[in-house]
Amino acid sequence: MTATTPRLLLRDLAQLATPAGTDAPLRGAALGEVDVREDAFVLCDGEAIEAVGRMRDLPALDGDVLELDCRGLCAVPGLVDCHTHAVFGGDRVDEFSLRAGGASYEELHAAGGGILSTVRATRAAGDDGLRAAVELHRSWMLREGTTTFEAKSGYGLDRETELASLRAIREAGGIPTWLGAHAVPPEFDGADAYLEFALAEVLPEAAGLAEAADVFLERGAFDAAQARRYLEACRDAGLALRIHGDQFTESGAIPLAVELGARSVDHLEATRDEGIRTLASSDVVGVLLPASALFLDRPMPPARRLVDAGAAVALATDFNPGSAFCESLPLVCSLAATQLHLSPVEALAACTVNAAHVLRRADRIGRLAPGYRADVTLLEAPDWRYLAYHLGGRVVARVVVGGELR
Ligand code: NIG
Ligand code: FE
Repeated sequence: MTATTPRLLLRDLAQLATPAGTDAPLRGAALGEVDVREDAFVLCDGEAIEAVGRMRDLPALDGDVLELDCRGLCAVPGLVDCHTHAVFGGDRVDEFSLRAGGASYEELHAAGGGILSTVRATRAAGDDGLRAAVELHRSWMLREGTTTFEAKSGYGLDRETELASLRAIREAGGIPTWLGAHAVPPEFDGADAYLEFALAEVLPEAAGLAEAADVFLERGAFDAAQARRYLEACRDAGLALRIHGDQFTESGAIPLAVELGARSVDHLEATRDEGIRTLASSDVVGVLLPASALFLDRPMPPARRLVDAGAAVALATDFNPGSAFCESLPLVCSLAATQLHLSPVEALAACTVNAAHVLRRADRIGRLAPGYRADVTLLEAPDWRYLAYHLGGRVVARVVVGGELR
């Protein structure tokens, strides 16, 4: 930092809560461990946390210090959303209304609506429209306490729009994932022909813009052989791997993810006993998306059983226009507690430390500790567990991003 930047002191916090940190994702009993301090402070120096502790242990501070009175507030690490689809044109509010009247998500998709209707709107948005969309969605996430977000392309499915989507994510400060295998666009005759194009024409440039690749492995999208082909090519181009798997049907996503050393399998609403065992004995993180299950009125993923079996899990919003129009990780934490039977402590770890592991940034974000990035979410609450307890209420008071109050 420069000598002119004052340090920022968050003082007189009702509580500070931070998950345990290790060099691997938290699992089992460790997922349920949290360090809570009453009457606490966080001292930020430039972009990093300098110290955290109890007020009575606050040292005398020389020099310029900007102090924020945090009475009535609790501090948790800035929330980390490791699975969003934040770049899209248009909306799906008509489809939402049809679904409310009984139409199913899969039927709408098969009839050329669903993801493909967002593909049409995204292609029409233009570069400026895409930038504006991701910027707007980023501001919504920030309001809900998310200080780091991943976002996927996947609504362009042509060269120009996929690459423009990845650029827009980067420009908005997001972590880009190339979801080049999300659906087969109408100009192609089948998934194999589309993959031929995507791997030859889009991957070479997408690999320089994205950190990871993702595929929708599902009936009606891409099968296991197609997913393998896509992921192997992406891995060879230097991308980390993720899979949308077991959303509606178990289609081999977990064994494929384990075999290819993917970072995560996301969704898991349809995962049964063997999948739970396989995931639990691997290093692949299961990313749970309860807002999507709720929004589509689908069964919830077997979260409790995954955690008890020893699987590493993370929580994310899946923010997108069709299956989860929800940017709120606090709401996801409420769903984790009420629907997934995770404790508030487990929920916090799943959307901070473990989500940071999925994004390979656990050495920098996801904890309130010296040396970590000064990303802090301040809760309007006397107890930090209001993060999950306050169902859909206003719980985020302020957010600090890289030492800057927002
Ligand atoms: O994660 N399942 C595939 N993709 C998204 C939904 C995309 C959409 O409906 O637009 C998901 O749920
Ligand atoms: Fe998704």
